[in-house]
Amino acid sequence: MTTAGPVDLDADDWTIELPTVADTERLGAALAERLEAGDLVVLSGPLGAGKTALARGIGAGLQVDGPVTSPTFVIARVHRGQRVPLVHVDAYRLGGVEDLDALDLDTDLADAVVVVEWGEGLVERLADQHLLVRLERRDDESRIANGRWRERTA
Ligand SMILES: Nc1ncnc2c1ncn2[C@@H]1O[C@H](COP(=O)(O)OP(=O)(O)OP(=O)(O)O)[C@@H](O)[C@H]1O
Ligand SMILES: [Mg+2]
Repeated sequence: MTTAGPVDLDADDWTIELPTVADTERLGAALAERLEAGDLVVLSGPLGAGKTALARGIGAGLQVDGPVTSPTFVIARVHRGQRVPLVHVDAYRLGGVEDLDALDLDTDLADAVVVVEWGEGLVERLADQHLLVRLERRDDESRIANGRWRERTA
């Protein structure tokens, strides 16, 4: 798959090539400009696909404090900053949406941008709609990201 020319991130469905990790971080920052409090971003893709790299870019775009690193061992972190807080969740070992509620995060999800790695099929119910970003690894270091806004289905 190839993408010719600039990609319209405001489209309902977009696909972008990410040759390097810096491109993935830039995509995150560009997405952050389009995100506001209450928005949910679900990141999907295999181990090492770049989910945390994308979350780091979103955090940079939101100008949040502290390094956005893999939350695997803490499950969730809240980053506050200049604009809206970022709640960064790793749902790898999370059973479902009830567990996320049980995390008793120090912030209301409606007041934050919530980014969930491995969240597909688990956390969609948290918001009326969500941005699903699927990351795919290719044979070289490059990645492909496909994003689409989706309505809550259940
Ligand atoms: N184009 C690219 N986009 C993103 N990451 C890349 C790219 N090229 C190389 N990498 C490297 O791949 C790794 C991606 O790691 P990252 O932690 O972001 O993945 P992840 O999907 O969060 O993994 P996990 O499933 O363990 O949470 C990093 O080491 C990064 O430097
Ligand atoms: Mg990760």
